[in-house]
Amino acid sequence: MIQFEAHDRPLATLRVDCIAIGLFEETEWSGAARALNSLSKGRLKALKARGDLSTKPGDVTLLHDLPGLRSPRLLVVGLGPRKDFQRRGWRKALGVALAACLKSGSRSLGIAVERPAATQLDDYYFGRGVAELTARSVYRTNHLKSGRKAPRPALESVTIVADAAARADIKRGVAHGQAIGAGQQLFRDLGNLPGNICTPRYLATCAKELARDHRSLRTRVLDEAQIRRLKMGCLLAVSRGSEEPPRFIIVEHRGGRKTSAPIVLVGKGVTFDTGGISLKDPGAMDEMKYDMCGAASVLSVMKVAALLKLRVNLIGLVPAVENMPSGRAIKPGDIATSASGKTVEILNTDAEGRLILCDALDYARRFNPGTVIDIATLTGACVVALGHHFTGVMSNNDALARELVEAGARADDGAWQLPLTEDYADQLKSNFADMANVGGRDGGAITAAAFLAKFTQGLNWAHMDIAGTAWLSGAQKGATGRPVALLTDFLLGRAGLAAS
Ligand code: BES
Ligand code: MN
Ligand code: ZN
Repeated sequence: MIQFEAHDRPLATLRVDCIAIGLFEETEWSGAARALNSLSKGRLKALKARGDLSTKPGDVTLLHDLPGLRSPRLLVVGLGPRKDFQRRGWRKALGVALAACLKSGSRSLGIAVERPAATQLDDYYFGRGVAELTARSVYRTNHLKSGRKAPRPALESVTIVADAAARADIKRGVAHGQAIGAGQQLFRDLGNLPGNICTPRYLATCAKELARDHRSLRTRVLDEAQIRRLKMGCLLAVSRGSEEPPRFIIVEHRGGRKTSAPIVLVGKGVTFDTGGISLKDPGAMDEMKYDMCGAASVLSVMKVAALLKLRVNLIGLVPAVENMPSGRAIKPGDIATSASGKTVEILNTDAEGRLILCDALDYARRFNPGTVIDIATLTGACVVALGHHFTGVMSNNDALARELVEAGARADDGAWQLPLTEDYADQLKSNFADMANVGGRDGGAITAAAFLAKFTQGLNWAHMDIAGTAWLSGAQKGATGRPVALLTDFLLGRAGLAAS
């Protein structure tokens, strides 16, 4: 694990393999850039004058053996114009600096990059951001390539250069950021694993390992027979077509008072979504290995809660199945009976997430929860609505939706509320069952939520659609770890440990 420390000794005395500073476009220099320029007797300004130091955001220059410095390497990251410098720019600059530092093979890094104003980024979130971004930059996917493995990043320690007065808040932020980073790593590992490895049984094993590693966690796993006894007919309907048996995973973290009502998190765990008989087209079907990222969110947040010993009662539920076409698979028009007793006409077997969630949401009731939040890669329609930048939030309780949206803004893990009114439920009418599982193309993210809402009456419930945010496609294909940071922020708030 990477060690972090924060101190305010002068840069000249800092003995690390690499120091990172930022440089604004303006000719008037400040902060570390100014200090190092005078220390090196004007060397930095001379390099700038001959065009060897870029100030463009995203650009980075590696300098060696700058006079006056004990550190052999100096990274200068472009910060652009000072007036445009905000949290986003800072996160980007730090990411670029970390990547360049890792590439240089440095074992220790000193961070002296300028920060946005405290109103934008206070000391706590600064420390948290440094730890989170460091964890992200050293993450290497558990790839299955033969041949020589790429070497692990050499980085062992990060020194944050900051005022003494800021140290306590930065340290608290770092501790939280490290826990979030560890959670995101688990998320990314689970998400990136292929469907033939990460099966419902694999998720169950992983949940049991979590409980072995963390004293506050308890895991129970229900097999197919036990799921049948619970009459989870909708979950079983989805699972029917697969040779892989389903699992229902329950992880508990009892960190709060005995009397305080638990928060229940429910994560969609479709370990591969072919669409079933309503088969998806082959285009990007491989990405449906990510259809268990709701489950990854829940398991990762349970891990963060354990690491931070959060004083909340938290329960994670994961219905885990594979959605396959086969001679046994459910067909369009089939009718299933959910655990709640409500019947569902399955008009499209590709709308399977809501079918496993409705049974899990019903199961949540037995914990008398104060709050229930489900997290799911539920609809392509949510990606159409919000793109890849915001997670969709829908809720039967506006205050809860606001709490989640605000947590996302603080955590740089954005979420946006979509309306959820009775109007949308009309699209789910069926002539043959209590409801259909699809409501047509229009407002698809919301009709999916409207379906879930029929199973959460009387609960304080929110639904998070992470279809656009849980992974990236294209050259950067990979799981993101979202919304682990958002949910951690939410839980810190609930635990009375809000940041500022
Ligand atoms: N897992 C998908 C949603 C999805 C699709 C997420 C693409 C990310 C990218 C989900 O099970 C699904 O197939 N939803 C259907 C619902 C439709 C049949 C009503 C969809 O979004 O097309
Ligand atoms: Mn589907
Ligand atoms: Zn799906």
